[in-house]
Amino acid sequence: MSHEAFPTDNPAVVTVGLPYANGDLHVGHLRGYVTGDTVARALRRVGQQTAFVCGSDMHGTPIAVNAAEAGVSPEAFAMEYHEEYAETFPKFNVEFDNYGHTHDETNVETTREFVRSWIDDDHVFEKEIQVAYDPDADQWLPDRLVEGTCPYCGEHARGDECDEGCQRHLEPGEVEDPVSTLTGNSAEYRERDHKFLRLSNFQDYLQDFIDRVEGTDNAKNQPREWIEGELQDLCITRDMDWGIDYPGEGEEELVLYVWVDAPIEYVSSTKQYTERVGKAEYDWEDVWKVEDESELTGADNGEIVHVIGRDIIQHHAVFWPAMLRGAGYNEPRAILATGFVGIDGKALSTSRNRAVWADEYLDEGFHPDLFRYYMIDGSGMETDVDFSWDRFAERVNGELVGNLGNFAYRSLLFAHRNYDGTPDVAVSDDVRDRIEESIEAFEAALNDYRIRDVGAAAVELADFGNEYIQRNEPWKLTDDDPEQAAQVIRDCVQLAKACAVLMQPVMPEKAAELWTQLGEDGSVHETALDDALATPPAEFGEPGELFAKIEDERIDELNEKLQERVEEATEDDEADGDTAAFEPEALADERIGFEDFGALDMRVGRIEVAEPIEGADDLARLEVDIGVETRQVVAGIKQLHDLDELPGERCILLANMEQAELFGVESDGMILAAGDEADLLTTHDDAPLGSKVQ
Ligand code: MSP
Ligand code: ZN
Repeated sequence: MSHEAFPTDNPAVVTVGLPYANGDLHVGHLRGYVTGDTVARALRRVGQQTAFVCGSDMHGTPIAVNAAEAGVSPEAFAMEYHEEYAETFPKFNVEFDNYGHTHDETNVETTREFVRSWIDDDHVFEKEIQVAYDPDADQWLPDRLVEGTCPYCGEHARGDECDEGCQRHLEPGEVEDPVSTLTGNSAEYRERDHKFLRLSNFQDYLQDFIDRVEGTDNAKNQPREWIEGELQDLCITRDMDWGIDYPGEGEEELVLYVWVDAPIEYVSSTKQYTERVGKAEYDWEDVWKVEDESELTGADNGEIVHVIGRDIIQHHAVFWPAMLRGAGYNEPRAILATGFVGIDGKALSTSRNRAVWADEYLDEGFHPDLFRYYMIDGSGMETDVDFSWDRFAERVNGELVGNLGNFAYRSLLFAHRNYDGTPDVAVSDDVRDRIEESIEAFEAALNDYRIRDVGAAAVELADFGNEYIQRNEPWKLTDDDPEQAAQVIRDCVQLAKACAVLMQPVMPEKAAELWTQLGEDGSVHETALDDALATPPAEFGEPGELFAKIEDERIDELNEKLQERVEEATEDDEADGDTAAFEPEALADERIGFEDFGALDMRVGRIEVAEPIEGADDLARLEVDIGVETRQVVAGIKQLHDLDELPGERCILLANMEQAELFGVESDGMILAAGDEADLLTTHDDAPLGSKVQ
């Protein structure tokens, strides 16, 4: 059943993946929080009643281990980061209606209610399983305390997650060749009773669910593989002290698995919000509960929207809906999974200091809204990106300073100097139509969860505005045709006002600044999209520039600093054997003749277009100019390269490769790349396109 378009008559809740209270926040984490905040604000702009909630994830083995190393209790350790996060988010204009944590009373209670309800409905059973054990340390090794090989893809994996390989959740006992991270010794598997949530009870339900859930393609497609085969039951208990106690008699030594109480915090945090503002203002039960089970997909239920990173899709699209269903709760309407942020093609690393930190960004003196714009509009939501100061500056200088800021400033300045504010004429039909078009584009983008396009609406309108001014040259009209001059400026002031309303979700503080410059007395945060068409104040003062250019020298400085840090992190990797562990394959025995080699028609090409292929996790569609002609090829590089940065890059194309069709896209050639990271082959100098490789 398809969902009604936003706004609906039901309340909505937007959540973002809870940060582990385990280290400072970096730009990778912020991508999700900024996206979630933008979605929540955009929903409010279209008139949807919306709560935006989150909380810190306080449990799990890494926190327990790090706290022990620091010589403090896990609670004190996690609390410190929790407080740090609660202070950091507002600095990025990420304004949660409630920010709780998983160890607070509300979440402990709600979690236990969930589990009791599963027990009562026969969704929980006990089973003897193999659990990793460290005989030297004389203790069980839950989750991150054990490492080994992923049984699904063969990559190195941590206890409960194949984080370097296939991203799958791993159950206790699944890691092969287990090694204790406490002592570095081989671990044993020993038998132990644990509690399981019978996911197989929910298989049919999940198969229907995945057909109707909305959101990004990765979140809708990846889970199919997991729920089509036999669903493995989920072990919900762990042998450790830090966590929420399992609510059964005689099970005092078991705590719940961190992934049980973590998503339940979404519910608890909403509950706390209701407790604060009252049920009349926002009722958490209207969102999370379903009155009549047969009405699960009915039109009267609230709208749950989860924003997460792509690493935790399985938890949100498989385990979590089953957990909700098992307790009689409502299901997510949409799951939006962002791509990952890396640096120089590598994952960010907290322990290696390979990151740009949240505080660091602010300490450099940059406005939070610039970061927000870069994150939201720098690439499509699902694309993995490298954080780059160059790209950041390019966006800011080009689109914000050169376009949006420039348009608002010149319009308001002209209006202020010549008319003391908005000229007293009606806005022209053309401009009104253009604004209406932008409003519709914004609504459509939000309903399709194309958040990048939500963010682009204001900048595109400003682009139109700049052209409009340029075309009409009002400065030439003031003497000869004052009526026409007033008309043009009237239109521009309206366009600037519309920009303020449309940019608010992505750049709330800058929108408020523009709003004030327009002499508006209400808050831009309270506006509906239609306010973009309301007449701006007749009087306003001299405007200021909304955005300032980032100078090249500044970017050089930042690049240098980041480069140094990346090099240090790489040295650390090497010292730890991360890269040294790379072993090239043995050389081929068989020799080939020159003729065999000559049979390969390899040409120098230039990538003209690089786009993700919808529904395919790894594939991209490229158009490569090889001098003679332009070829379309499909390449498995979607996750490994920032596609936006590929156009213009030179590559080598095997032109007489057999044609193939992948995901319905014809592939006519193959581009050459080296290694697991698909390092693209290119030329050293400037051999013309179409040159043969020989
Ligand atoms: N605590 C879990 C989530 C529980 S949700 C019920 C967790 N924590 S985390 O601290 O590792 O990540 C917090 C959020 O940031 C998650 O949504 C995660 O996907 C996202 N990201 C973490 N690193 C990221 C990047 N480098 N890039 C983009 N998003 C990233 O997972
Ligand atoms: Zn794997």
